Amino acid sequence: MHPTRVIGLMSGTSVDGIDAALVEIVGTDLDLKVELLAGETYPYPAQLRERILAVCTGEAISMTELAELDDAIAVVFAQAAQNIQIGHPPAVLIGSHGQTVYHRPPEFYSSTSILPSKESPVPNPQSPGYSLQLGRGAVIARLTGITTISNFRVADIAVGGHGAPLVPRVDAYLLSHPQESRCIQNIGGIGNVTYIPARHNHWLGQIRGWDTGPGNSLLDLAVQHFTNGAKSYDENGSWAASGTPCYPLVEKWLSHDYFHLPPPKSTGRELFGLTYLQQCLQDCQAYQLTPADVLATITELTVASIVDSYRNFLPQMPQRVLLCGGGSRNLYLKDRLELLLKSVTVLTTDEVGLSAAFKEAIAFAVLAYWRQLGIPGNLPAATGADQEVVLGEVHHGIGNR
Ligand SMILES: Nc1ncnc2c1ncn2[C@@H]1O[C@H](COP(=O)(O)OP(=O)(O)OP(=O)(O)O)[C@@H](O)[C@H]1O
Ligand SMILES: [Mg+2]
Repeated sequence: MHPTRVIGLMSGTSVDGIDAALVEIVGTDLDLKVELLAGETYPYPAQLRERILAVCTGEAISMTELAELDDAIAVVFAQAAQNIQIGHPPAVLIGSHGQTVYHRPPEFYSSTSILPSKESPVPNPQSPGYSLQLGRGAVIARLTGITTISNFRVADIAVGGHGAPLVPRVDAYLLSHPQESRCIQNIGGIGNVTYIPARHNHWLGQIRGWDTGPGNSLLDLAVQHFTNGAKSYDENGSWAASGTPCYPLVEKWLSHDYFHLPPPKSTGRELFGLTYLQQCLQDCQAYQLTPADVLATITELTVASIVDSYRNFLPQMPQRVLLCGGGSRNLYLKDRLELLLKSVTVLTTDEVGLSAAFKEAIAFAVLAYWRQLGIPGNLPAATGADQEVVLGEVHHGIGNR
């Protein structure tokens, strides 16, 4: 079988830039193999990033502005797809996650809901999730000439799922082990885990996945706050490493409902964004924490929320944790995680042959490939969906130009 050359495009809740992965894919499930030919992160133009973050924070936007923002994001995604191919034979398919600007898990209607009430003759759907990604696949297909799969989350939401996390099935086929149980822990803006038992009978049915809570989102916002925007993140976690965590605050923050909610569950900047950080900063004032202490305390929240969720929601602790995403480069965070996980080995996915920086982009390339083969991409145990479904909407390209 010839490998299929696919581009995966992803920009997550950190809104730091577009991760582009050019991969060759063969096989379908346990024989699935992915070779990364090229991987690059293309930072957003500063103005566009600011606009996205403002919209994520709830700034009002007109329909005209929304359409413009959608197209502006699609254009930079299309440019990323074109750039990543330079020096390589062209890809036949793009899987583009787009940019999430809003995510609401199922059953989360606000009290001011304008939906028909239960007494209304119009049936009220069972509080479905809502997840909005901008960067239209139609525009990417048009600009690149390459068939583009986008809007991956809606098909899962249509069958009652959160539409997130969507990477667990890909993780399962690329990172499972015959004898070893593993947690694949992505630390993006939000953290998410895939638990994969050793590959014995019925292992697929025992895979679990959920969003663990904040990853880098609060840390990044705090760094921007303390540096007046001069820095966007704490490189290698060295600033946090010079501080001391305030444990009473970590305990207090861990009492947040989200951490106690059993999976399936998903979250976003709506919960762990600017408002949450402002609350944290207020709490820190009472303890007169220095900026370094604040960063250490927020890091501890990320780490403790990950470890607690394994202890509370997994049938057993994994034998190994494999980190990926930008947060896997935060050495302080990694050290703290290793310490709290005690006897569990912590590595990055790089150390088992899968790029930690581009794993999420690679996952969307695989999901697009599965879409074209008619293979389901979601894992109901992770998203809460009623059934497995093929993910993504197809936008046909008219040939490479
Ligand atoms: N060297 C580093 N040291 C510390 N933190 C880093 C480093 N490099 C990246 N990061 C962190 O990683 C973040 C970007 O990670 P990533 O792109 O995986 O997140 P994301 O865009 O939210 O993606 P996703 O939602 O797919 O997980 C940065 O905002 C920063 O906080
Ligand atoms: Mg990113």
